[in-house]
Amino acid sequence: MGEMMSKLEIRQSLPGDVNGIEQLYSDAFPDEDLLPLVKELLDLEQGVVSLVGIGENAIVGHISFTFCRVEGASDIVALLAPLAVTPALQKQGIGRALIQTGFEQIKQSDIAYVFVLGDPAFYARFGFKAEDKVATPYPLPAKWHGAWQSIRLCDVDALHEGMLLVPELWRHMALWTD
Ligand SMILES: CC(C)(COP(=O)(O)OP(=O)(O)OC[C@H]1O[C@@H](n2cnc3c(N)ncnc32)[C@H](O)[C@@H]1OP(=O)(O)O)[C@@H](O)C(=O)NCCC(=O)NCCS
Repeated sequence: MGEMMSKLEIRQSLPGDVNGIEQLYSDAFPDEDLLPLVKELLDLEQGVVSLVGIGENAIVGHISFTFCRVEGASDIVALLAPLAVTPALQKQGIGRALIQTGFEQIKQSDIAYVFVLGDPAFYARFGFKAEDKVATPYPLPAKWHGAWQSIRLCDVDALHEGMLLVPELWRHMALWTD
């Protein structure tokens, strides 16, 4: 059993959080080097919602949403990634709280759609469904079929068919393949 969380504060990430966020990602994703991507996300001054979860004065979770567009449409949509919770504090609701707080902020920015590449066993409970109209910037490996998902947060028109147009930092094939 891990430790129990007593309180959780969620706020926008700040430049001084970088060390805590780096520690979090090396703990939560020991086999993947997400740090270069995460650092680039933290350096973006706009076009990103980046939240940290703070418990007992330490960073225990992080989530990021990058603003994107779909080919042929002008509406802004968001790409949820990455999301990490300190291993000892997983399964206590921190991930859910980060996703829900993020969705509230995303809606305030008039963004209706969020995309994610992740395990449907986790993301389906938040309302994500397999996405087949909007394509990933790089073709996914066959075994990741079903991992590309989206959710509609407000009552707006259906999505255009097309490719998700991501900012430069997401244009690395290694982020979309294994
Ligand atoms: C995935 C992760 C972010 C979830 O965070 P968390 O704080 O443990 O999640 P929560 O406690 O808020 O869980 C919310 C729900 O998801 C379930 N859940 C948690 N981890 C799960 C998993 N790996 N697979 C399926 N369901 C999961 C919980 O049981 C809970 O279910 P409930 O709503 O029925 O109670 C966290 O486990 C993590 O950082 N994992 C390693 C990195 C990773 O895989 N990130 C995913 C990026 S795509």
